Amino acid sequence: MKTKSFRVFLIVHLLLAAAGLNLCAASAASPRERLLLDAGWKFHLGNDWGIAQNLAKAGSGSGPAGVWFSDASWRTVNLPHDWAVELPFDITADSSHGFKALGHDFPSNSVAWYRRTFELPKEDSGKRLWLEFDGVFRNCDVFVNGWFIEHHDSGYGGFRCDITDVADCGGKNVVAVKVNASEFEGWFYEGAGIYRHVWLVKTAPVAIAPDGIFVYSTFKNNVPEGDAKIHVQTTVLNKLANQAIATVVAEVVGPDGKIIGSAQSQNSIGPDAQSEFKQTISVSKPVLWSPESPELYKVVVKVFGADSTHYSTPLGDSFDLKETEFGIRTVAFDRDRGFLLNGKPYVLKGTCNHQDHAGVGAALPDALQYFRVRKLKEMGCNAYRTSHNPPTPELLEACDRLGLLVLDENRLVGSDPLHLKWLEEFIRRDRNHPSVFAWSLGNEEWNAQGTAGGQTVIRTMQNLARSLDPTRLCTVNVNGSYGETGFFAVIDVKGFSYNIGSMDAYHTNHPNANILGTETASTVTTRGIYTNDTAKGYVAAYDIITTNQAKDFPNPVTWGETAEGWWSFYNARPWSSGGFAWTGFDYRGEPTPYAWPCINSHFGILDTCGFRKDNAWYYQAWWTDQPVLHLLPHWNWPGREGRNIDVWCYSNCKEVELFLNGQSMGRKTMKKDSHLEWQVSYAPGTLSAKGYLDGKEVAETKVETTGAPAAIQLAPDRSTINADGEDVSVFTAAVTDAQGRVVPVAADLIHFELSGPGKILGVGNGDPSCHEPDVYLPVWTNYSVAVNDGWRWKKTTEPWNTNLVEFTASFDDSAWAPADVQSVTNQLGDNEHGVFRTHLKATETELAADAVELCFGTLNGTGKVYVNGQKAGETHDSGVVSSVDVKHLLHPGDNPVAVLVENYSSSGGIITGVTLRMRDKTVLPEWKRSVFNGLAQIIVQSTKEPGAIKLTASADGLSPATVSVSSQPCTARLAAP
Ligand code: GAL
Repeated sequence: MKTKSFRVFLIVHLLLAAAGLNLCAASAASPRERLLLDAGWKFHLGNDWGIAQNLAKAGSGSGPAGVWFSDASWRTVNLPHDWAVELPFDITADSSHGFKALGHDFPSNSVAWYRRTFELPKEDSGKRLWLEFDGVFRNCDVFVNGWFIEHHDSGYGGFRCDITDVADCGGKNVVAVKVNASEFEGWFYEGAGIYRHVWLVKTAPVAIAPDGIFVYSTFKNNVPEGDAKIHVQTTVLNKLANQAIATVVAEVVGPDGKIIGSAQSQNSIGPDAQSEFKQTISVSKPVLWSPESPELYKVVVKVFGADSTHYSTPLGDSFDLKETEFGIRTVAFDRDRGFLLNGKPYVLKGTCNHQDHAGVGAALPDALQYFRVRKLKEMGCNAYRTSHNPPTPELLEACDRLGLLVLDENRLVGSDPLHLKWLEEFIRRDRNHPSVFAWSLGNEEWNAQGTAGGQTVIRTMQNLARSLDPTRLCTVNVNGSYGETGFFAVIDVKGFSYNIGSMDAYHTNHPNANILGTETASTVTTRGIYTNDTAKGYVAAYDIITTNQAKDFPNPVTWGETAEGWWSFYNARPWSSGGFAWTGFDYRGEPTPYAWPCINSHFGILDTCGFRKDNAWYYQAWWTDQPVLHLLPHWNWPGREGRNIDVWCYSNCKEVELFLNGQSMGRKTMKKDSHLEWQVSYAPGTLSAKGYLDGKEVAETKVETTGAPAAIQLAPDRSTINADGEDVSVFTAAVTDAQGRVVPVAADLIHFELSGPGKILGVGNGDPSCHEPDVYLPVWTNYSVAVNDGWRWKKTTEPWNTNLVEFTASFDDSAWAPADVQSVTNQLGDNEHGVFRTHLKATETELAADAVELCFGTLNGTGKVYVNGQKAGETHDSGVVSSVDVKHLLHPGDNPVAVLVENYSSSGGIITGVTLRMRDKTVLPEWKRSVFNGLAQIIVQSTKEPGAIKLTASADGLSPATVSVSSQPCTARLAAP
């Protein structure tokens, strides 16, 4: 195949050769493109088109699945998008999913459609084209240009569709996704919709296969001494009809950007086949990756034709070029020393987390992943368990780049072909990430973890994982089945879920076992609350044993441990490797230990916004080396003067002295991994503390009784963001007294106004019982005018002719018979076809609406609609109102309309009336949120316009605050047009 660009190349090449210049491989441009397909989707909640998935004939998707369907009146959304977070709370809804009105009891809220149109240039013809979905919750059907392309059940696994054959290069393409969140997968808030990115990927027909690069490093004896060997395995896919020669060049690029080694190999690949290239490159004096020093290398894999120094490809260009970040490090487990990173014992100070954040639900912009990783690292956390599913890819990217180890968890345990396929896709997707230190094959599988059958299943899964990744071990989170049969009998690393009381005996009886605390804690606390409140659903933030409080709790956490309980236990046992606290952040659902009105969990060390609960300082004290000194509770207790209050201190100082209004309450010595307590008779004023190390004062802190709320303070987490339409700044709104001190009991309702090139994505406050919306949606009104008059009709024998004179604007239909489009009077018989015509009168006001659609109550048959002589669209769904977008074709005054109705069975025609439907101007919402114990959060996203984004917060009786962040010009990621 010789294309135009190939000929141009040849000429250029010959000219350069004549000039004595060599065309260097490194300058070859790759036809690979990965375009973000996030912006500008149309969204409709509800499934009004039952027969959309028409399997009778190829490419016959109808309703929204069809190419011509009008989505003009649908809402426009950008991905990632979670519609569950937009739904109201409902006491009858599922508590473990956060009482959102979603699921099979709420059918009208649980199925939605997304549609997106994109253009492909003619030059894409001959390339392979893919749509990549990083995650859709859940049970979705994907249609491209009316073709049913993919059904995907899992809400957590990514999937990709090869759309090469059905794509229209040089034309418009329509992707439609029906998402059905009627059934849940987990027992926690999971969101609903396309809540991760979607990509359009283009490659040459000979190219690196999807997830076709595996790069990892090894050292002799798995300790980082001497040279590192970098193994690069590249799978190249040949989608040509004939054999292809492929030359793979892999270059390793160091953290300083310099190429430090390369390898080259060549294979011949049969038609429609793939071939694996295995290469090894040595790196001397490698810089190791660790959470403390997350140094990244990258491998650049280039695929050429027969000659690696010349362009010679079917597209007249290089076959492929792909960059993959990786890190050089070793991971291992030792039965006595626990987890080893780079050959040394490394205690895992981990948290488990679901992907769920205030304001946005499961649909996290990438910048919020980074925000959350930073919050965890600030308290000394060095590891993250992606409970209970494969995470969003950008979370792993954030962990690689900022430095957090990851226990990467598979969603479902099973060894049938489907489960193994999902496991394989998951491992292939994630195995290049240096942050990932082990695979978790599953979580608390009560029915399988202790059985012989379960043992066989997990062994099969582990064997597959080993075959895909020789560098990491597998674990599984097991709660209570620690016998000789079941998961523990075969799994590489025994993952304990709670049950710390069983661990010593297990270790003694299994001295060779590798052990890890895969899940622990489940400590329940509410930020800024110091007495349990059953009515409101709040739990005191002291780190006390939750099981002892059973009288207060309808659903006590009998399985949990305090922060101090689990950490002091694990930290005293090097063989345990450390553990993962349930959880780093609060999440919606599992409102333990209460139920309604509580709608989210209390397990977090941080709340749903990432605001710290007091336990965060316990962890920071024992997880970092910097002096930490923190007192609780707050000191606003009017009416409790003279009564004793429990004062706790979290610190890593050797001694701490407490003062009330300058008077010493005593100096105490801190035990390792512990805390200090005093009973203090309350008097308003200042509670302060000094911390000492080796007798030297190293830290001081204070908690003051504040005045009444007087003002608002606004603070963005980042004051400069990228004008790429993706980046976010996370604002904290704090209510302060006249002296600028945060009022720890404030509950004021704050209004937010934004101006400049940005938008508010969501708001939150961390209150586990707050039912205020996290998201305020734009609203609009629809109105319709009837178009039932003046219709005339005539049968035609030329249904296939797309050029009938009867469609033209000037056609004179006055001799035709009048037609009643509101009754069955003008019916077409079996296999009869007819043209219906009228003159639609449109006003300027109607045409000023955001969307204008011509709607047919019932159009029996296939309808082809022409307005002013131009095709407006088609309708294929007689069971529902079908509409075509006509705004761009109408003008004020008279507009001739012609509709060809092709009827292929029983009777056909236009029978229940025609309307012109206007979607009137959209009204933007007002944003507001109460502060909870003084704080609220506002997530602000940039647009692609640079400039100052100004946020103003105001409330009754408080001085307002205005703060700007600068949205700076940047190179946005390449996006699909
Ligand atoms: C565990 C489970 C988690 C969460 C937690 C609450 O057993 O693995 O998903 O439900 O309990 O304490």
